[in-house]
Amino acid sequence: CGIVGYIGHREAYPIILKGLKRLEYRGYDSAGIALYDGNEIKLSKTKGKVADLEQRLEKEIPTTGKLGIGHTRWATHGVPNDVNSHPHYSNSGNLVIIHNGIIENYESLKKELINRGYTFKSDTDTEVLVNLIEDVMTNQNLKLGKAVQIALNQVVGAYAIVVFDKNKPNELVVAKLGSPLAIGIGEDEFFVASDASPFIEFTKNAIYLEDEEMAIIRLNKEIKIRKIKDDSLVNPYIQELQINLEQIEKGGYDHFMLKEIYEQPSAIKDTYRGRMLVDEAIIKMAGVEDNMKKFLNANRIIIVACGTSWHAGLVAEYIFEDLARIPVEVEYASEFRYRNPVITEKDVVIAISQSGETADTLAAIKLAKSKGAFVFGVCNVVGSSIARETNAGAYTHAGPEIGVASTKAFTTQITLLTLIALRLARANGTISSSDFRHHLIELEMIPEKVKKTLESEAHIKMIADIYKDVHHFLYLGRGYNFPVALEGALKLKEISYIHAEGYPAAEMKHGPIALIDENMPIVVIATKRGHYEKVVSNIQEIKSRKGKIIGIVTEGDVEVKALADHVIEVPETLESLSPLLTTIPLQLLSYHIAVMLNRNVDQPRNLAKSVTVE
Ligand code: G6P
Repeated sequence: CGIVGYIGHREAYPIILKGLKRLEYRGYDSAGIALYDGNEIKLSKTKGKVADLEQRLEKEIPTTGKLGIGHTRWATHGVPNDVNSHPHYSNSGNLVIIHNGIIENYESLKKELINRGYTFKSDTDTEVLVNLIEDVMTNQNLKLGKAVQIALNQVVGAYAIVVFDKNKPNELVVAKLGSPLAIGIGEDEFFVASDASPFIEFTKNAIYLEDEEMAIIRLNKEIKIRKIKDDSLVNPYIQELQINLEQIEKGGYDHFMLKEIYEQPSAIKDTYRGRMLVDEAIIKMAGVEDNMKKFLNANRIIIVACGTSWHAGLVAEYIFEDLARIPVEVEYASEFRYRNPVITEKDVVIAISQSGETADTLAAIKLAKSKGAFVFGVCNVVGSSIARETNAGAYTHAGPEIGVASTKAFTTQITLLTLIALRLARANGTISSSDFRHHLIELEMIPEKVKKTLESEAHIKMIADIYKDVHHFLYLGRGYNFPVALEGALKLKEISYIHAEGYPAAEMKHGPIALIDENMPIVVIATKRGHYEKVVSNIQEIKSRKGKIIGIVTEGDVEVKALADHVIEVPETLESLSPLLTTIPLQLLSYHIAVMLNRNVDQPRNLAKSVTVE
């Protein structure tokens, strides 16, 4: 989600509206604005884009006021509709809040508040938070800032919030944990936003709040920043922004794709957050729990998807069969729907789609439903067509993906499918409790290991520079990492326009080996646990034909290192989780080759982010 706030001497509305448009890349399910006109709070919100809000607002409310907040939403709790849109009022109507993030324990907080007489209009975690703040404020007779602090200490989750009290209209209170929050400092005016883009033309002076910090922003006063936990004062560090608007929207990265590659540690965390409880050794996902019988009674699971999502489906095939012992077929949605497939009520279909709008996948779902199959959706975009059309589902929560070449959607899809497979394996009794726990512990370490893998970027860039001018690439992998080879080749094709093929390493000798000569770079995924010795033999076969080898290896590897022209290391993990790490260098390799070739990385020719034609 994107958030904006203003307090000062100018009209807030145009600043907030323009700011929201700049933050729309962060989500655009719904939007809303609250303005204080000197007397009252005026609030308007709607499902849809900021442009829809704009159309509606000017008819609905007077847009005057020098204090205001605005929000553009990417739904997490509750479908995107008018009621669930932000801002949200507290019950008294005195407080109004915008929030980016997830309050994980909102259900228990909500129950308590209901017991104390609070009522709720929306399904959001945010409305719970604003009422919790109000409850603390009125019960303990506290000022807004203190009440926010006490309330946040009861909250588990992630947030960036902006809240104000209409009885104290010279003050904005903001806080951050997990989600970004920048404060722009002008002359007698302040701006707050998810990034600096909404205020860059007004001021270059900004404070970026750190996690677990809150700020009380008062007109004609110094900003007070405190640690939420222990109330200690923090010296504000005001930095001078050197960047331009476009760079800011991309979070300082040159391209959305690179930004999204780097978002993977947090995106993966967001996928399992609240669903995987490592200490209790539990995985819980409402969509799976509610339909457990359907899953357990299934003759087989059929996965339908297109593009990168299809590759995630292939990885899932290995995971489901390996862990949960359920037979799986993975189908291109476009082939499945046109070939009169055999489907019965005993089949469970899992449809995977980042956008939730891909026409072929949608049509495959409709076909499967018409034959009586139970269809489960794995989507990123909340409220999308596929999310609505499926019988049940779970969201990946990767955040908006803008780059056409899919990156964080892929790794979060794999994460989510791993959770589902593990949950089913537990229910099926095909995994021991100690093995189950071991998987959870290992999965929880993945975000840190992805971070570690990203540190190889400079080395990967150097490799990209050596091979950027070749015309063909081959990608090889076995087992869990065979689909990663396909995905690596797809990434390169999509954004650099270099011809690339992915193959199961052992299949190489049935054809592609004919292509190998001293000009052919071959990316081989050769991590420790995945049929390592067999892959080493494949590498030897390539070497004796003078092919150039780029090995993706486990940290500390010696054998492949001795044979390969280059190696890129990834930390050790379980074989089933290794695609989450081995994918990362392949994304960076394609990215850097494409940049060096001057390609349009975020919008490659002929492609589209969501393909709504059949
Ligand atoms: C397009 C995109 C791909 C994506 C595929 C499936 O081709 O360019 O990145 O993998 O569609 O999209 P979906 O939204 O269903 O995952």
